[in-house]
Amino acid sequence: MTEKAKALKQLSEVVEACQKCDLAQGRTTVVFGDGSPDADIVFVGEAPGYHEDLQGKPFVGSAGRFLDELLQDILGLSRGDVYIANVIKCRPPENRDPTSTEIETCKPYLMKQLEIIAPKVVCTLGNFAAKTLTGRKEGITRLRRKAIKVTTFYVFPIYHPAAALHRGDLYDEVRQDFVSLKEFLEAPMPPDEPSQMELF
Ligand code: URA
Repeated sequence: MTEKAKALKQLSEVVEACQKCDLAQGRTTVVFGDGSPDADIVFVGEAPGYHEDLQGKPFVGSAGRFLDELLQDILGLSRGDVYIANVIKCRPPENRDPTSTEIETCKPYLMKQLEIIAPKVVCTLGNFAAKTLTGRKEGITRLRRKAIKVTTFYVFPIYHPAAALHRGDLYDEVRQDFVSLKEFLEAPMPPDEPSQMELF
């Protein structure tokens, strides 16, 4: 096992031990990240749902199947090539609107995952993930498809795949977000200086 894999495993054990916090009420499990510890790109979703709770893995329900399809069709990647995490690791399904306190409670675990993996790009899926990692006040509609430098990586906010499942009219927008992500990944990485920078 590599050092990064070992460090992630240790962290996942710490996260398991936090199951007793208020956010975990009604949940059976804490859902840690999944995928390659050496990934250059990390996807960060919002919070696990029913299927993730049952299987203990992020993005295994319908949004996850759609994410797999978009990864494969547009980026030519599979789950094993990337790492997938969530802002919040456990949350009752009826709580669709986490408070800033709840987000802050889980944020250190996400930041630790990112520190261990040290990806080049963190693609955030949805509103909470984008705001949590960029610190920006604007919503996802304004932030999407902009590359924003945060410490050592770029955050690239896009719509959550579930958006297209709930609203058919967003299907093309969601696919186009992944096309923009592909273009960003294929472009030369911009120089490192500014700590917050918009490319598009
Ligand atoms: N939606 C998310 O944001 N995360 C998951 O793990 C599953 C669905």
